Amino acid sequence: MYHARGILATMLIFLIFHFSTSIDTMTLNQPLEDGNILVSSGEKFALGFFSPANTTNRYAGIWYNKVSEQTVVWVANRDNPITNTSCVLSVDETGNLFLHEKDHSLVYWSTNISGVDTNNDFSAQLLDSGNLVLFQGVNKEVSLWESFDQPSNTFLPGMKLGLDKKTGLNRVVSSWKSSNNPGVGDYSYKMEFIGSAQLFLSKGKKRIWRAGSWTGRGWSGVPGMTPNFIFNASFVNNNDEEVVVYNVRNSSIFSRLVVTESGTVERFTWNEGDREWVGFWSAPKDQCDGYNHCGAFGFCDPYKPVTFECDCLPGYEPRSLEDWYIRDGSKGCKRKVGTKMCEVGDGFVELARVKVPDTSTARVNMSLGLEACKELCLRNCSCMGYASGNISVEASGGGCITWHGDMFDTRTFSDGGQSFYIRVNATELAKYASKRLSKLPRNHFLVYVIPVIAAVFLLCTFICCYQRKKNAKRNEGESGFNIPNGLKALEGSLMEKDIGKNMDLDVFDLSVIVIATDNFSASNKLGEGGFGSVYKGMMVNGQEVAVKRLSQSSSQGIQEFKNEVMLIAKLQHKNLVRLLGYCFHKDEKMLVYEYLPNKGLDSFIFDQAKASLLDWKKRFQIIRGIVRGLLYLHHDSRLKIIHRDLKASNVLLDTNLNPKIADFGLAKIFGGDEDEATTRRVVGTYGYMSPEYAMQGLFSIKSDVFSFGILLLEIISGRKNNSYYRENSLNLIGHVWDLWKQDKALSVVDSSLGDSFDACEVRLCIHVGILCVQELASDRPTMTDVAYMLTSQGAMLPSPNQPAFIFRQVSHGRDVSASASGGVGTVFNEAITILQAR
Ligand SMILES: *[C@@H]1O[C@H](CO)[C@@H](O)[C@H](O)[C@H]1NC(C)=O
Ligand SMILES: *[C@@H]1O[C@H](CO)[C@@H](O)[C@H](O)[C@H]1NC(C)=O
Ligand SMILES: *[C@@H]1O[C@H](CO)[C@@H](O)[C@H](O)[C@H]1NC(C)=O
Ligand SMILES: *[C@@H]1O[C@H](CO)[C@@H](O)[C@H](O)[C@H]1NC(C)=O
Ligand SMILES: *[C@@H]1O[C@H](CO)[C@@H](O)[C@H](O)[C@H]1NC(C)=O
Ligand SMILES: *[C@@H]1O[C@H](CO)[C@@H](O)[C@H](O)[C@H]1NC(C)=O
Ligand SMILES: *[C@@H]1O[C@H](CO)[C@@H](O)[C@H](O)[C@H]1NC(C)=O
Ligand SMILES: *[C@@H]1O[C@H](CO)[C@@H](O)[C@H](O)[C@H]1NC(C)=O
Ligand SMILES: *[C@@H]1O[C@H](CO)[C@@H](O)[C@H](O)[C@H]1NC(C)=O
Repeated sequence: MYHARGILATMLIFLIFHFSTSIDTMTLNQPLEDGNILVSSGEKFALGFFSPANTTNRYAGIWYNKVSEQTVVWVANRDNPITNTSCVLSVDETGNLFLHEKDHSLVYWSTNISGVDTNNDFSAQLLDSGNLVLFQGVNKEVSLWESFDQPSNTFLPGMKLGLDKKTGLNRVVSSWKSSNNPGVGDYSYKMEFIGSAQLFLSKGKKRIWRAGSWTGRGWSGVPGMTPNFIFNASFVNNNDEEVVVYNVRNSSIFSRLVVTESGTVERFTWNEGDREWVGFWSAPKDQCDGYNHCGAFGFCDPYKPVTFECDCLPGYEPRSLEDWYIRDGSKGCKRKVGTKMCEVGDGFVELARVKVPDTSTARVNMSLGLEACKELCLRNCSCMGYASGNISVEASGGGCITWHGDMFDTRTFSDGGQSFYIRVNATELAKYASKRLSKLPRNHFLVYVIPVIAAVFLLCTFICCYQRKKNAKRNEGESGFNIPNGLKALEGSLMEKDIGKNMDLDVFDLSVIVIATDNFSASNKLGEGGFGSVYKGMMVNGQEVAVKRLSQSSSQGIQEFKNEVMLIAKLQHKNLVRLLGYCFHKDEKMLVYEYLPNKGLDSFIFDQAKASLLDWKKRFQIIRGIVRGLLYLHHDSRLKIIHRDLKASNVLLDTNLNPKIADFGLAKIFGGDEDEATTRRVVGTYGYMSPEYAMQGLFSIKSDVFSFGILLLEIISGRKNNSYYRENSLNLIGHVWDLWKQDKALSVVDSSLGDSFDACEVRLCIHVGILCVQELASDRPTMTDVAYMLTSQGAMLPSPNQPAFIFRQVSHGRDVSASASGGVGTVFNEAITILQAR
């Protein structure tokens, strides 16, 4: 850390007269010169002058003091760079902070407060939250100004986003102009107060993404934002202000939300181990996040693989069938022809897991319950739909939102979201009455509405346009939201071909595979999993590949198979095994992957001889790699993928021993399309299966979390979960839990590690491992939580309850006998597939 002489001198003076150190404060006659810094009392933040990369311009700003990669969180003179190093930041006798030439010839920035009583002491203090506060009074009685009220591109914990009703100040977070120019850029993130308050990401005046209104738990457009281990966010609406505040529960963790120059909102967490910022969350994620993607009364569902993501809300139909057919939803929908509304018999269809429409056209009454809300809406003919205003108290009635007018920007989520009730007439209601909807019906009939000839003609026209445009666009790179809807839609319809081309996904002839694998010879067999067997292959060009021969019980047709493969091929991450191509022939379906010579993680950790190749540092790296891969599958990729067969042998190591998850996405091919669902066909590996999956066929991302927990404990202990342990506990979890209770968890560590491990890290991993294998899925963290827990080294973790699969099953073996023939406790090392009757 760099302490300049002036500041040291100040510090000495203070030491002598004050008996307290205070280099976080600037007083009247102590300007801060370029080259000096103020450091907050806990040394978290520093204030000083900096130059962004590749420029010599100087800016006054605040950055993380301890983070090795300079990360600026606030800039004073954003649009007014200084060209030399002769400036100072000072507090003057008018009670303002000034950034100016030493000789006062030029002022670059000031706090511009007027009418302050000047007979007082002024000082500016950099707080440990990163807030620079201008105080008045000897004891800092009055705060005149704070940097948190003028955010740059970063939203820090403790900061408020929203409206100060007394001063009229609406705080806005705005992007930099570019990575080397902190000037106010195009993108802003701010709350708007038409209807009920909503948070928007905008480019200039154009809305790009709507985080939405506050649901009581989080923003309606951020489904993952449930109360969790890491943050507590709260929304405050009283006479003084209407704001949201974020806090990180453990304040020693560095977490920041940034509005980037490329038009995204991203949250990062500092990982001291790897010395890098780790992406934690970002938005917008998919095309349905694009504001108003499907127009008025439209409904966006991104989880439809190839068909058009836009639908109409129940009771509505596309305004323009032609546009709809070419997959442009922007014109939206209208009431179905012949609908009479506001008649006797009107009712509501519930859409589950949605982001409710833009509330600019909505009315809110927070004192009504859901039932009263329904009545209110039914009685008023202009009311189109309603939803709860506070989902954390939905049952007891936490408020009422009713929509009167066009409903924009509605979409579905794979989990999270809330229920939205849309008004329909009696006929429509009868159609939906038989079942509670969780997804909208598809507008399949549309396909047949337009004569084929017209369609072909339209398509041809557009393909020509498209090709021409595409050529013209070729050098522009990613254009994000700027592609007109029609073109984007068309891309969708050409998707299969395009992806095949872009991704070099090969279609292999069966004969090629047969030759490569020596007719699937036993000597080439690498392993067997829940979805089929894997063979090593050598292509004629010498390239080594791994061929997954899917078991023939897949019910999918060829077209569906191809579609799924295309989607899986889009999943690309450094911790996932790369798909090279596929092959199908009659009932045979095969996937061809890159070959990783180091084989599976199981061949290291469960092997006495090779276990020592993986020291703790390496193992911890592997664990984090697996976490990132899973995080990508669960939350970051456009498709949400549940792996369903995560285990040591499905984690392959590359030549540098980096982990790569294999076999992901296969559950989709085998018809596990839903995100959380029950399946009659339990595929997976005993020892890694969560209780609800093994017994009831219930799977969700939390069943993967369970498997991950087992894997984590296996990596630490070098023992298989299903190997017999001591007399009292059945398996590894039981054993770990025993030791955990006795506070001796560290004795489970693989003996081949000797003493050369970081006890803190290992204890943390064991703790996380136990949390992941909790009996109740809801008690398990998500992978986002896990990533956070592991990177923040000692974040406050909840204490675990007794994990699943231990004693309960010793005494009630029959609980699972229906699925686990052979009884619990038998050593199952092979993956098995069972058809389960429910
Ligand atoms: C700085 O310039 C170098 C070389 O031109 C370039 O590679 C780098 O990306 C630039 N950095 C930033 C932040 O613009
Ligand atoms: C620094 O730059 C400003 C603006 O270009 C100029 O007015 C000032 O004289 C310069 N100061 C020194 C010490 O060169
Ligand atoms: C300072 O505030 C006054 C009024 O409060 C305003 O007119 C002026 O433009 C502001 N100056 C700057 C540099 O922001
Ligand atoms: C929602 O309900 C919870 C629980 O009663 C309450 O704590 C919270 O303040 C409510 N939120 C809003 C925005 O009313
Ligand atoms: C976060 O939680 C702590 C205690 O659990 C509470 O004191 C604090 O006010 C909360 N902060 C927010 C922003 O909700
Ligand atoms: C309800 O609307 C449909 C069109 O969506 C129409 O055919 C039907 O007659 C309407 N029913 C009533 C009772 O108005
Ligand atoms: C909200 O509902 C309550 C109960 O019906 C009613 O007394 C109150 O006037 C309503 N508030 C508004 C703003 O409409
Ligand atoms: C229906 O609701 C709208 C919006 O709240 C309101 O302006 C209108 O007066 C209401 N109509 C009736 C009949 O209550
Ligand atoms: C917060 O995290 C730090 C390290 O990141 C850890 O040392 C400390 O114990 C944690 N505090 C709590 C209350 O969990």
